Amino acid sequence: MMKTTGFFCFLILLSVACGQDHVNQVPCPGVGDNAFQKNCIVPDLVAQAPKEVLKVQYLPSGLTLQNGNELKPEDVKDAPSAVQWTSTSYDGILYTLSKSDPDASSRQSPTRAPINHWLIVNIRGNDLSSGDLLMPYGGARPPNGTGLHRYVFMVFKQAGRIDVTDLRSQFSPTNRTKFEIKNFAAAHNLDPQPLAGNFYQAKWSEFLAVPAVKIT
Ligand SMILES: *[C@@H]1O[C@H](CO)[C@@H](O)[C@H](O)[C@H]1NC(C)=O
Ligand SMILES: *[C@@H]1O[C@H](CO)[C@@H](O)[C@H](O)[C@H]1NC(C)=O
Repeated sequence: MMKTTGFFCFLILLSVACGQDHVNQVPCPGVGDNAFQKNCIVPDLVAQAPKEVLKVQYLPSGLTLQNGNELKPEDVKDAPSAVQWTSTSYDGILYTLSKSDPDASSRQSPTRAPINHWLIVNIRGNDLSSGDLLMPYGGARPPNGTGLHRYVFMVFKQAGRIDVTDLRSQFSPTNRTKFEIKNFAAAHNLDPQPLAGNFYQAKWSEFLAVPAVKIT
């Protein structure tokens, strides 16, 4: 009798855990040791955690990403001054860099997510300026009252050069919504496991209330 009850409890627990699999939860039911797993970036944006930690630094503050540290929208309004992963010189491999917000308009209700904050393809070595810019950098503009959003940087290895002639027309800074980097990766033969990744979190600040401030 005890055994049977225990078994049913196990089944109920299992179904609860499985049911939450693809839902944005706060706190999320993240499973695993990697920061991307613990914070449900796996599976919200990608199926596998990055192999290495991406180094990202903003100036003039000097602030760096620390896998989920909270930064202010004013700190991240301009593109980071340094984005580094292990590839330093061009050895024939090209890379894609993306920044996504899976929490738009909020983590509880991500109906417009993921937001495409930055997308550069065909990067040689570590030199972002050598790549083809498909989506210009956007800082953090979480709406007032929507809590912390995750802003996720990932670098993917490409299998070859991506032809951007026809792709450019599909990307416009006026439409950043519902961009799934995992679908882009599959469509363009990127390694499905990011080579490197890192993320910060940010919530609304008074800085965003100033109408003169435009972040594109
Ligand atoms: C932001 O939200 C807070 C709390 O709801 C509210 O008191 C404040 O007026 C809002 N500010 C703006 C500029 O919307
Ligand atoms: C906006 O971008 C998304 C993702 O790239 C795309 O699926 C959607 O069709 C675009 N919407 C419009 C109105 O262009």
